[in-house]
Amino acid sequence: MSYKDSRLKLLSGSAHPELAAEIASCLDVPMTAASIGRFPDGEIDIKLHEDMRGSDVFIVQPTGPPVNENIVELLLIADTLRRASAGRITAVIPYFGYARKDRKDEGRVPISAKVMANILVSAGVDRVLTIDLHAQQIQGFFDIPVDHLWARTALEEAVQKLELDNLVVCSPDVGGVKLARAWATSLSAPLAIVDKRRVSGVKVVMENVIGDVEGCNVLLTDDMISTAGTITEACRILKAKGALRLVIAATHAVLCGPAIERLQNCMAEKVLVSNTIAHSGELPDNLEVVSVAPLLARAVTRIHREESVSALFNEAKKA
Ligand code: R5P
Repeated sequence: MSYKDSRLKLLSGSAHPELAAEIASCLDVPMTAASIGRFPDGEIDIKLHEDMRGSDVFIVQPTGPPVNENIVELLLIADTLRRASAGRITAVIPYFGYARKDRKDEGRVPISAKVMANILVSAGVDRVLTIDLHAQQIQGFFDIPVDHLWARTALEEAVQKLELDNLVVCSPDVGGVKLARAWATSLSAPLAIVDKRRVSGVKVVMENVIGDVEGCNVLLTDDMISTAGTITEACRILKAKGALRLVIAATHAVLCGPAIERLQNCMAEKVLVSNTIAHSGELPDNLEVVSVAPLLARAVTRIHREESVSALFNEAKKA
């Protein structure tokens, strides 16, 4: 379906132009011409080269590393569009950064995810399209519509190709059970959970697995791989408990600090991640990237046409 004559506009920040270009190609729309640069002191300089008046604009900008740069850029693009009289501004944020701080679980800490929601709305964003929020309740931090997609629908085909029989789906911690259960239901597999204790930002300890994995192939699922401490430690304990083949399916490959080395040396034969975050350096040999561009393009189409986005989940299931 071509949108060449419609008011649908796709605009990319500098966080992930490759993903934006892929979405544009799926939609058969050109990218909106814009210059996004830096002043000599590092401040962001933006200029749009097209009339935006009345347009239905989708800004593609995941807020992964460099997180603060990408967030401010997104805010300034939204402000530019608002002042250029865009009809509707949708922030397509495939990876929503600052999501881990979603509640005040101890004294004197921020609720960073709420701050992000507030500033996006005050910059002029009318709706948000995102994938696998760290906590689904973050949708409620926005007083604008949030369309929330699941990368599982894109990753599942790659998992099926691995032909993992006698399969158990495992969450590396209690927080990931909901996601793991969705995978388990979809793959008709039983569920296991690793008992994780976080010692620091980069170190976790795991001693027990709830559920039986001995003699089974295991699919470990998670919303993100940051330092890869969680997922690689989970691999270690699962092997120690008698698991056979190990495959990881994680949505957001943040991959910071020792992540690359940890994944390269971990016991998983395959690490499936989506491309919600851009990567330029060398990646581990066992890592396979699955594109979420077709999924996002379908959602953009539906939002633009004022059609149901939740119907997408059923479509993906049938496919
Ligand atoms: C935890 O709640 C998340 O779902 C991830 O398991 C965690 O953020 C991954 O972090 P890392 O890779 O640094 O262990």
